[in-house]
Order: sequence, then structure tokens, then C-alpha cells
Amino acid sequence: SANQMWGGRFAAGPDAIMEAINASIGFDRRMAAQDIAGSRAHAAMLAATGIVSDSDAEAMREGLLTVLSEIEGGSFAFSTALEDIHMNVEARLKEIIGEPAGRLHTGRSRNDQVATDFRLWVRDQADAAIDGLQALMTALVAQAEQGADWVMPGFTHLQTAQPVTWGHHMMAYVEMFGRDLSRFRDARARMNESPLGAAALAGTSFPIDREMTARALGFDRPMANSLDAVSDRDFALEFLGAATICAIHLSRMAEELVIWSSAQFRFVVLSDRFSTGSSIMPQKKNPDAAELIRAKIGRIFGANVALTMVMKGLPLAYSKDMQEDKEQVFDAADNLMLALAAMTGMVSDMAANREALEAAAGSGFSTATDLADWLVRTLDMPFREAHHVTGSLVALAERKGCDLPDLTLADMQGVHAAITDDVFGVLGVHNSVASRTSYGGTAPERVREQILRWKDVLK
Ligand code: ARG
Repeated sequence: SANQMWGGRFAAGPDAIMEAINASIGFDRRMAAQDIAGSRAHAAMLAATGIVSDSDAEAMREGLLTVLSEIEGGSFAFSTALEDIHMNVEARLKEIIGEPAGRLHTGRSRNDQVATDFRLWVRDQADAAIDGLQALMTALVAQAEQGADWVMPGFTHLQTAQPVTWGHHMMAYVEMFGRDLSRFRDARARMNESPLGAAALAGTSFPIDREMTARALGFDRPMANSLDAVSDRDFALEFLGAATICAIHLSRMAEELVIWSSAQFRFVVLSDRFSTGSSIMPQKKNPDAAELIRAKIGRIFGANVALTMVMKGLPLAYSKDMQEDKEQVFDAADNLMLALAAMTGMVSDMAANREALEAAAGSGFSTATDLADWLVRTLDMPFREAHHVTGSLVALAERKGCDLPDLTLADMQGVHAAITDDVFGVLGVHNSVASRTSYGGTAPERVREQILRWKDVLK
């Protein structure tokens, strides 16, 4: 039988395969609350502008609340024949309130309706990401505060480079997640315009009030061009772009936790609550949560690529291709929120191993740069020469199988006669980090400044 929404033109109903490829109700039901909020705002506006009667609008608005409670209560019967959430809701409204339901779609199209619903949905997810990031950053700041002056090795190429502080390393991630947070804020601000009232693509001849519906839905203003309003999904792509970069940061941090929790590093102990065991190896405690967070970038970036490909080359205005936007964003958002929550839990629970960090900080000739800087400062040596002299001292220590502070003054003077006893003062890891007082540097006093600044932002 022909469709109840557009049956006028059709003699036959769709093929089963057509129905299967066309229907989006299997996933867009997740936008039910947004769809109903949009319809309730639209109904109120239709009455305020005299397009429908107050009593019809009242019936629509009440009936829509009933539909919402049926959906939320799980008693709503979704129908694939009705394609999507928009027609499922409207058809049920008709059953509940009768004839006035048929007036709800005046001056509106599913094209502006879906654009509105999806913007509202993505806006909520941007807010959730912002909340999730704030929680994670708060947990990282607490870790930084506890170990603001704990020393650990800093790496480049994953080779020992120079000693840094635990607090400094934690605060590096706070900076990264802080930029993620501001990216979600930027995206949210840009997406917060209302497509509602763009209708199919050209606007409408009814005297609608787009300012009114925009305000009712918490948008800053109506979108200025009706063709653009139904055509673009750049707001979703921006969300996915911000999510992708955030997932990169999560993945890098997860990788460090996997390395740090290994028996070879022992920098951190992850809590039982965020670890799993092995079914065969009784000693195992695996960092599965970190590994899964590390992997989430795969589907999040995948969604970003998928939606980019869907949108490229589409002519204006709406094309059904755009129905493929939602599942990608739903999946990316779900997994980003899960990854943020899991990382927050792991960071809150983890115990840094101060002794292991400090022992590792001093190995690998990590204060060689301090030694070279001392030669420059004390002996007025050009840095290139100091680099060479220090390199010879490192080679000597390597041959003797000891660290730089274990060389004797005689060893040192054998390489360069002018070296004095004072040099030993700069070879310790605590001296090393304390000396790096340049702005943004690893000295504990500098790290505490960073901590204070972020605590103020996050409070
Ligand atoms: N389910 C559709 C979507 O998600 C709603 C818009 C349908 N519009 C249309 N002209 N067929 O994109």
C-alpha cells in the first residue's frame, strides 16, 4: 500500500530492499528527544504567528510530550515503514491527537527538521566532551600536584634525554586536553545556529518566526541562508575533527601508561579497577583499558574520514546521502565519551612509583646537558666544544660502566684539565630539574605555576 505521508502520488509501496536501504529509524531514534523539542518549538511558533490555532498547537505540544514519554518508557512501537524518527513521531502524534497532527508540518520539511535535530544532538555531545575533558584535566592536575617535584626521565626518541618532573609531564597533557576543550567550545559556538524554518531548501511562504524557534531551542540565531541550512554537515565534521585530535592525545597518553606499567619500567601501578588478568598466566595484570583507549582513534578518525567522503561532491541542497552522517557521529561520540571516562578513572586511580621514577631519572647519562652547560658557564667554553668534551666524558663513563656522577675528578681532568670539583654539583637529577627555570620549564616552581593557573581555570 502507498505511503501515508506521500501516498497521493504513489500507487505502490516500496520494495522490501528499498525499505531496508532507505530506513534510518534503526539509528535516528537516538534523536527522538531532539526531534520532539524541535517540533514543540515549531508548534508554539505556528500558534504565535497565527498559522495554526492556539488549541491545535496546545494539542500538538501535549501530544508530543506523550510520544516522548512512550519512547523513553520503551512502549513506543517503531516502524521501519515509517522510515525515520520524524515520521514515526508524527504518525504516532496523529493516533493520539487526530487531525491537528496533520498541521504540524506546515512551513517545515524533514530537511530542516533533521538538520535541527542533528545540530541539537551534536551540541549535546560537544557539551559532554567538554565535561569529560574537565574531569580528566582535574584528575591530571591532582597527579601533578602530588608529584610536582618528583624526578623522572624525560625522553626524546624514547631514549633518555633530560630529567623532568612528574608534575611537568602530567601538566603537558593538561595543556593538550585544554586545547581539545577549546576546540569543542569553538565548534559548539559555530554550530549553534538554527536551521529550523529553512523548510525543504527555499524557505516558506508562511509567515514563520525563525528567531522564536531559534531562541526556544537555545540557538544563538537562525541560520542566514536556507539552502546552506539544509545542505551542510560541517558542524558534525568539526565535532569529529575535534574528537579525532582529542583521541590522538588520549591514544598517546594510553601508550605511555602501557609502557610505564610494564615490569621493565614500573613507573606507575594501575589500579585493579582498570586492569584485567590472564586466563592462563596467573601473574598477569594487563592494562586493557589503556589499550582500548589507544585503539579508539581508529573508529573516531574512521568516522571523520567516512563523513568527509559522504559529503564531498554533493550538490546543494539536501541529498539522501546525508542520512549516512548520523551513525558515524553516534559511534565516534559514544566511544570518545567512554575513552575520556576510562582515562579519567585510570589517572585518578594510578599510583606513580616515586622511587622507580627517580632511579630511572639518573640513568642513561641524563645530566650530560647540565655538564655541557656547566663547561660553558664556568669555563666560558663555546657550546659546541662543551658538547664534544661532554661526549668524551659520557664515552669514558660508558667504558667504565658507571654514570656521570660516579666519574672521579681525575677522570674528568683527564678529558679536560680545567674541570674542577664544582662540576659534581650539576650532575644530580634534582639540581638538573631545579635549574630549568625558564618559562614553561620543568623546575618545580615553574610546574607549580602551571598547576595554579589550571586549578583556577578548572574550578
Ligand atoms: N531520515 C532523513 C535523514 O536522516 C531525514 C530527511 C529526509 N529528507 C528527505 N528529503 N527525504 O537525512
